[in-house]
Amino acid sequence: MDLMEKIVSLCKRRGFIYPGSEIYGGLSNSWDFGPLGIELKNNFKQLWWKSFIHERDDVLGLDSALIMNPKVWEASGHVAGFSDPLVECKNCHSRYRADQLDTKQDLRVCPNCGKNDWTQQKDFNLMFKTHIGPVEDTSSVAYLRPETAQGMFVDFKNILSSFPKKLPFGIAQIGKAFRNEITTGNFLFRLRELEQMEIEYFIPPPKKDSDWQKYFEEWRKEMWRWFDLVGIDSKKVHEHEIGDGERAHYSKRTIDFEFDYPFGTKELYGLAYRTDYDLKSHQKYSGWDLTYRDQERGESYIPHVIEPTWGVDRTLLSILLSSYYEDEKRVVLKLKPYLAPYKVAVFPLVANKNDLVSKAKVVYRKLKDSLVVVFDDRGNIGKRYFAQDEIGTPWCVTIDYDSLKDSTVTVRDRDTTK
Ligand code: GAP
Repeated sequence: MDLMEKIVSLCKRRGFIYPGSEIYGGLSNSWDFGPLGIELKNNFKQLWWKSFIHERDDVLGLDSALIMNPKVWEASGHVAGFSDPLVECKNCHSRYRADQLDTKQDLRVCPNCGKNDWTQQKDFNLMFKTHIGPVEDTSSVAYLRPETAQGMFVDFKNILSSFPKKLPFGIAQIGKAFRNEITTGNFLFRLRELEQMEIEYFIPPPKKDSDWQKYFEEWRKEMWRWFDLVGIDSKKVHEHEIGDGERAHYSKRTIDFEFDYPFGTKELYGLAYRTDYDLKSHQKYSGWDLTYRDQERGESYIPHVIEPTWGVDRTLLSILLSSYYEDEKRVVLKLKPYLAPYKVAVFPLVANKNDLVSKAKVVYRKLKDSLVVVFDDRGNIGKRYFAQDEIGTPWCVTIDYDSLKDSTVTVRDRDTTK
């Protein structure tokens, strides 16, 4: 088994991640986060919120609607331009992203049937379409948001009028986004239902390049700090400067933070200078005045934006890949203790000894007041240790016969096994 297979299998067996709708044969790369997966995911989302909102004075949180007025997506450029090049094999009708087909050889053969007979390439818009209300016609079309970012632009004026913030300041949100990707795959890497943690950081219009570059560099450092914070192996992270002509329509500069996944080095996060593209466009399409009154400069203007963006699912995947460890004896998820689903597991040394079990329950309930703790009295103690190692529990507490005499316990450390 390769590393990806091992991780997918551990995630399913131990209740981190299950294939979505599995009893109906699944649904193209959709996944459900099980009891331990949601704990791990919540833990790093809360850490993100704490690091970038609570610990700073200049970023405010938001949770905007998933279905927005469709004009939002006209203004943002997504209706016209959020598409991938689609080709279809005329022989077996499999569909592919033209830019992801193997072009090493001149003949681009169909990965499914091996023929080389393609339809004309066409642009396929990635937004999921739906209808609002009971009538399905063009006037009721709406989209599931393909990024969380637009919520921050659309609520910019509301937030500014409730909070007298001075520039620079940011608006942040964590939430689901939807993209009708032509091909999905590689577990959590490319999903149709994904989650993002994004910040739109508003800055005054730069008078010279160094004015925006300063903030861009600050966020670049923050993104590197994040890798260490969550235990993503920074030796496997590389910056990739996106060249002219390859950047999204709104961006003047983009750096992708790529990760060495077992299936290749690919995007994990992004950092972009979105200029004043979005606010300017929303001002035009909505007719609202989205300018900011700068008292010190004595002028009104449309702010510019630096956008650091983190994919939640890719974060989870790269944390799992970075923390997976195995030797001849055991498999361990070396998660940061503050991210581990359970902080402590409590065991009575022997399962069927009432005095040990009841003392262990006392310790368990006491710890449970302040930590996420699990109780386990199945099988032998060695097996219980290994079962906790595999889900990343940093400490196991065992109640033995000494505990009954002197109220001491044995604490065992996951990484050293001491
Ligand atoms: N607001 C900017 C934006 O959405 P993006 O590079 O398209 O930029 C941001 O997406 C992040 O969202 C990516 O760096 C990645 O982590 C995550 N992401 C994008 N598409 C994804 C997909 N299909 N499946 C899983 N994660 C995805």
